[in-house]
Amino acid sequence: MSDERDWDLFKQKLKVKTGIDLNEYKANQMQRRITNLMTRHNHKSYVEFFNSIENDKKAFADFIEYLTINVSEFFRTPEKFSELEAKVIPDLLAKSPKLNIWSAGCSIGAEPYSLAMILKDMTPSARHRILATDLDIEILNKAKAGVYNGNEIKNISTSRKSTYFNIEGDKYTVLDDIKSRIEYKRHNLLLDSFETGFDLILCRNVVIYFTEEAKDKLYRRFFAALKPGGVLFVGGTEAILNFRDIGFASYLPFFYRKPF
Ligand SMILES: C[S@@+](CC[C@H](N)C(=O)[O-])C[C@H]1O[C@@H](n2cnc3c(N)ncnc32)[C@H](O)[C@@H]1O
Repeated sequence: MSDERDWDLFKQKLKVKTGIDLNEYKANQMQRRITNLMTRHNHKSYVEFFNSIENDKKAFADFIEYLTINVSEFFRTPEKFSELEAKVIPDLLAKSPKLNIWSAGCSIGAEPYSLAMILKDMTPSARHRILATDLDIEILNKAKAGVYNGNEIKNISTSRKSTYFNIEGDKYTVLDDIKSRIEYKRHNLLLDSFETGFDLILCRNVVIYFTEEAKDKLYRRFFAALKPGGVLFVGGTEAILNFRDIGFASYLPFFYRKPF
């Protein structure tokens, strides 16, 4: 089988089994990652590799975890979270006392839990909605469990650590009160339909391997999913150059606002 045919068949099989369409990801980077893994396990073709893990639940879950790269941490890029807390959320609360928020590509839950802590401190008696979604079902189970190590929580202030976690040695477990504020759901940003009416959408460090077309389409769909005045918050290397074409107004670096 030619290399191209092998890759095409592999993509087809993966799509049928998981809904993940590698045509919307940058081919070079994806092939490099998958080839590394295959060579480690001595497989000669993508299809042979796929067949070898297809019916092994653990090996398949490990592969998806490797493919989706779910490294994360609380308050990732702390200076951006400071702006979120000092400016963006107060601006949103001035318009609506109960916020509807979506953490898209939430990975281990560090992002939605960081938000829940900020909101609990700012509006102790309000009940906002935080929807947190990811493609990877295994990572959502980790998020729901809410157990972290010292490295993942290194950006959290000492007072928040002691207020919002049960601490046993190097094991930090998010308290149930914070856990209960997050609604977790499996969702593929490149395939599934979007809800609408969000005040804030976070999509950070998710699109690195998406093609330019897939990113553009995604940002337009986020725009449609926001309320007028709503904000899209992206990762520290993911500035949207054509934000005006999409309809966003200039607001703060890495935060894009839908006009009122
Ligand atoms: C590096 S993590 C980012 C986590 C968090 N947003 C942060 O900034 O720390 C990227 C996450 O995006 C998810 N992801 C990748 N492609 C996706 C897709 N098409 N739909 C939904 N989630 C996706 C991965 O499963 C992974 O958990």
